Amino acid sequence: MASTSSNDAAAEQCKKATEAVFVPSQADHGFTNKVQGYDWSQGLNYSKLLESYMTTGFQATTFGMAVNEVNRMLAKRMEPIPESLGLDEFEDDLFIRRKTNCTIFLGYTSNMSSSGIRDTIKFLVQNKLVDCIVTTAGGVEEDFIKCLAPTFVGNFELKGSTLRESGINRIGNLVIPNDNYCKFEDWVMPLLDEMVAEQKEKGVRWTPSRIIEKMGRAINNPESVYYWAAVNNIPVFSPALTDGSLGDMMYFHSYKNPGLVVDILDDLKRLNNMAVKAANSGMIILGGGLIKHHICNANLMRNGADFAVFINTACDFDGSDSGAKPDEAVSWGKIKKEATPVKVCADATLVFPILVAESFAKHHFGLNKQ
Ligand SMILES: NC(=O)c1ccc[n+]([C@@H]2O[C@H](COP(=O)([O-])OP(=O)(O)OC[C@H]3O[C@@H](n4cnc5c(N)ncnc54)[C@H](O)[C@@H]3O)[C@@H](O)[C@H]2O)c1
Repeated sequence: MASTSSNDAAAEQCKKATEAVFVPSQADHGFTNKVQGYDWSQGLNYSKLLESYMTTGFQATTFGMAVNEVNRMLAKRMEPIPESLGLDEFEDDLFIRRKTNCTIFLGYTSNMSSSGIRDTIKFLVQNKLVDCIVTTAGGVEEDFIKCLAPTFVGNFELKGSTLRESGINRIGNLVIPNDNYCKFEDWVMPLLDEMVAEQKEKGVRWTPSRIIEKMGRAINNPESVYYWAAVNNIPVFSPALTDGSLGDMMYFHSYKNPGLVVDILDDLKRLNNMAVKAANSGMIILGGGLIKHHICNANLMRNGADFAVFINTACDFDGSDSGAKPDEAVSWGKIKKEATPVKVCADATLVFPILVAESFAKHHFGLNKQ
């Protein structure tokens, strides 16, 4: 039989454990959003399903926050430009002229053009819902190549050596026949000849954005993002334009018909001036690397973007800019201190079409009040 003193000690330990487990909550903790998923008793309603993401938690909640952030950009865009700024009518370069009260910068990595995300980007560009694009070389050429021959769905496990023997290139679970690049070569070489001639005869100063505009007009195909960018005066910046198949073509071409000079500084002036001129600015950036930093750095010129959404799979524990959260950009003056930027940690192929559906598409098709 236990002594009274050992009973007392056990009771005291139990009391301490109880106090530790049942720490009382402050009544005024300030959290008001109840976790709540989709109510399936209302049947299948995709829009309501996506709305329920906000209160679902984890990346579903950051998705909901990203939808709100993009809708804030669009609401700002609908407001009139302040009279003090005006319509920027003295700007001769129509591509960089201030057009709305919120200049939206869209950035994406090359693989977005390889994937079906290209078609969502085309919707935005065709309907003038964004003002400026920054992408890498593959993001440019893959759009044109798709106008010449298709990209196919394969799988992530296809063996490199077998594909190599068949002349098939793999990008994740997509595959592109090598012949597509031969068709691209046949299409692009005469354009490079024209560029050299225009440079020599008319003094044209070629920059990546002017090359992309020329290619966009030449492809003359409404399937192409850059056809619509050229038609709608939306500049496409790609400072590393040579790091892809287009660079391979330029390399071969430089031996056949030398002399083409590409000026990246003139493009930097165009991009930075767009940010400086913007009444307000929003950044939507799919993926990391060059495209993410180039847009953020341009927004440093205006002491920070007003709105920002990053969608990428990169982590920040390694100090990479790809993975850096928006708050790191606040410290550099690339996003405004008062902004409410959002990073969604996800594959953009899953997230971007539904983000566009809940923001740009509802706005464009007048579905906001339903
Ligand atoms: N189709 C292609 O991908 C392709 C084709 C030709 C040339 N290239 C060249 O390869 C080089 C590197 O490509 P890059 O700079 O465009 O980007 P990248 O493919 O190196 O990606 C940069 C980062 O973006 C993030 N990211 C990429 N895909 C994502 C996704 N689906 N969802 C969310 N986050 C994602 C990842 O964190 C990744 O580390 C470029 O110079 C490019 O021109 C690529």
